[in-house]
Amino acid sequence: MTSEAQKMIELNQLAAKLYHYLLMETEEGYKALQYLKERGMTEASMTEFQIGFAPNHHATVSSFLEKRGADLELAVQAGLLTEREDGSVVDRFRSRIMFPITDDRGQLVGFSGRLIDQENGPKYLNTPETPLFNKRRLLYHFSEGRTEIRKREEVLLLEGFMDVISAADAGLVNGIASMGTSLTEEHIGLVRRIANRAVISYDGDRAGIEAAYKAGLLLEEKSRMEIFVLALPGGKDPDEFIKEYGAERFLEVYLHERMTWTAYKLFYLRKKRNLQNDSERLQYMDEALTEIGKLSQAVERELYLKQLADEFEISIPALKEQLQQKIVEQKGSSKRVSAEDDFLLDLAPPPDDFYGGLVSAQPVRQTLQAYHASEYLLMKAMIGSEEAFSAIHQLLDGLTFQHDEFQALYTHLMAYYLDGNGADPNRFMDYLTDPALKNLVSELVMLETPEEATSDEYLDYINSLKKTNFIRPY
Ligand code: GTP
Ligand code: MN
Repeated sequence: MTSEAQKMIELNQLAAKLYHYLLMETEEGYKALQYLKERGMTEASMTEFQIGFAPNHHATVSSFLEKRGADLELAVQAGLLTEREDGSVVDRFRSRIMFPITDDRGQLVGFSGRLIDQENGPKYLNTPETPLFNKRRLLYHFSEGRTEIRKREEVLLLEGFMDVISAADAGLVNGIASMGTSLTEEHIGLVRRIANRAVISYDGDRAGIEAAYKAGLLLEEKSRMEIFVLALPGGKDPDEFIKEYGAERFLEVYLHERMTWTAYKLFYLRKKRNLQNDSERLQYMDEALTEIGKLSQAVERELYLKQLADEFEISIPALKEQLQQKIVEQKGSSKRVSAEDDFLLDLAPPPDDFYGGLVSAQPVRQTLQAYHASEYLLMKAMIGSEEAFSAIHQLLDGLTFQHDEFQALYTHLMAYYLDGNGADPNRFMDYLTDPALKNLVSELVMLETPEEATSDEYLDYINSLKKTNFIRPY
C-alpha cells in the first residue's frame, strides 16, 4: 500500500473518532443519539460499530483536521472534504449519522452517512469511489464478521447497515451487507472462501424479493455455496422484524424456517404467474420441473414433486414422467451435481402467495416437511430395519438429533429393539404412547424414499447433517 493510502486511512480514523465523540458526548449529537436509541440501537452497539454524527456545519471536520496540521488535499481525496470552486474546502458529510466502512483487511476506507429525518438529499451518502473505496468490493461488517462467518461456515447476507447491526445484537455476528449496490461477483469472491452456506435475508417487499432472487442466482452461478432465503412477512426488513417480533423469533426463523433455494425459486416463479389461467399454470409447472430437475438427490426431487402434485392435483407418476424428460434434456448442463454438493437440503414449507403465509410471526409446531431430509431418511431407515438401526447407531457415534422429536423417537426405537421386537412400523407405533410421536412415525412410513441405502449412504446423510448443524454433539 502506498503511504498516501495509509495516510488517507489515518485521516478516516481521525474523522471516525471525531464523529463518534460528537454523537456520544455532545449537544450537537444529541438528537441523532436519541433517534438511534428510539430505533433500539444500544450504546454498546454504537461503540462497537463506531457509529458517529456529522453536524450540520461545513467546517467541523475541516477545521479539526487543519488544527492537527493534516494534509487537507489528501482529506479531499479521501472523500472527507469537498473542494469548492474558489479552492476552499468544506465537510462532505453534514447532518448525517455516520457508519464507518472497513475493507476486507479491516482498514477504515470510508463512510456512509444517513440523514436523520426526511431532510433534502439522498438518504445515504457514501464516500466517493476511490482506489480504496470501491463499492463493488466492499461489504459492510465483512472484516469484523469474518471469524464468526468462518466458525459458522455460514454468511448472512443483508441489505442495510441497520440490519447488520440489529442482527449482530440478536446474536448473528455473521451478517454483512453491500452498500446500496446489488451483490457483485467480487462480493461473492470474498465470502465463498470462508463460508459453505449463504443465508439471504433481504427486505420482504417486492424490491427485496427481486433482489434476493438475483443475489441467489449469482451465488448459484459463482459459488458452490448452499443457498437459503429467509422470507420475512409484511414487507419487513430484518431490523424491523427484530424490533417487532424480537431477536429470538428472528433466530428461530434463521435456524429452522429458512427456505431452501429451490423452494424460494418455486415461490418466486409462482408469484409471477396467474395460476387461475391454464396456460400460465402449465408454464409455471414447466419452470418448476426445470428447477426440480436440477436437484441431484432423488429424495429432494420427490419432495418438491409431491408438493407440486398436491398443489395442482396431478398424479406423481405423470409429473415424474415429465421430469424424466427434463432431466434428459438438462443432462450434462447441471452444475450442482457433485459429491461435494451432494447432500440433502433443509426442507422448507411449500411456496405460498406471500411471505406472510410462509413465515408467521408466531412460532408454529414444526411439520415433517420442515425437518432436515437426512434426518428423516435416517429415521425411516432405522424404523424399517434393525440392521439399519445398528449401522446408523454406530455411525452416529454419540451425536444426537437436532429435533427433540427425532431424538425421542431414536431413544424409543433403541428401547423397542432392545426389548426384542423386530422391525415393524405398526408395532412400533403401538409401542409408543405419545400421540405426536405416533403421528410422526406414520408420516415417516408414508414417505416415498429410496428403498435400501448402504452404509456409505447413511454416512453421507450423517455428514450432511453435521455440515448443516442439524445434529449436535451431546
Ligand atoms: P433505515 O431506513 O434506517 O432502516 O436504513 P436501511 O439500512 O434499512 O436502508 P434501506 O433499506 O433504505 O437501504 C438499504 C441499503 O441501501 C442501505 O443500508 C444503504 O447501503 C443503501 N441505500 C439506501 N438508500 C440509499 C441512498 O440514497 N444512497 C445510497 N448510496 N445508498 C443507499
Ligand atoms: Mn431498515
